Amino acid sequence: MRRSLAAGNWKMNGNAELMEELSTLAAAQPDAGPDILICPPATLLSQAVEVTQNSPVRIGGQDCHAAPKGAHTGDISAQMVKDTGASAVIVGHSERRADHHEADSDIRAKVEAAWAADLLAILCIGESEDERMGPDTLDIIAAQLDASMPDGATGETLVIAYEPIWAIGTGRVPTLEQIIETHDMIRDRLVARFGAEGDKIRILYGGSVKPTNAAEIFTAQNVDGALVGGASLKAADFQPIIDALAKA
Ligand code: PGA
Repeated sequence: MRRSLAAGNWKMNGNAELMEELSTLAAAQPDAGPDILICPPATLLSQAVEVTQNSPVRIGGQDCHAAPKGAHTGDISAQMVKDTGASAVIVGHSERRADHHEADSDIRAKVEAAWAADLLAILCIGESEDERMGPDTLDIIAAQLDASMPDGATGETLVIAYEPIWAIGTGRVPTLEQIIETHDMIRDRLVARFGAEGDKIRILYGGSVKPTNAAEIFTAQNVDGALVGGASLKAADFQPIIDALAKA
């Protein structure tokens, strides 16, 4: 049995008001719900850890550098993320891939850095709109997955987030059939590579998940939760998504 996971990605948003939202969210969680992770900007990690201290909500970073330390102005290492009290880190988000020209090989190195710092890595993959329209969508996603994922992944160390780039922040989502087909392909590939452990790795869907569409998305057998951007910024939007996951 895989534990379901509702993860929120705040992106470059975060201020005192959002910390209030976080404390509202933390206070509302029962002990036995789905796993909940919030990924605020690096500047707020320590504060977010403190605010959620006595709650089931866990905190994660949005990125880390592949190197443990050194001359990389503006970057933070996986161990620095860990030192804030965070327990996870997102790597390979399509906004990082686009804005910072991150290749699959860079992302693979970041996953390894996350593991070296004892962080759960949430590895994002997903196709562009042109790639979705073409005949090779699943092959393209499979190739991305294979090249970004190091050997030795387990259900405790890795989560995959399937995020079609064209669905992020647009209000558009793939059909349920497309989500099922893609997540089933990812599952098959994880099992082919990691055996029984591949069945324990959680696969999240991300891209315009809202309170209105979450329940339908969570009906898919290989959707183990969601990575949520915009709708994670308000407790009143994120809570119904958590609730839909609890019922799925
Ligand atoms: P969105 O972002 O929910 O705002 O579409 C998802 C993501 O980028 O992780």
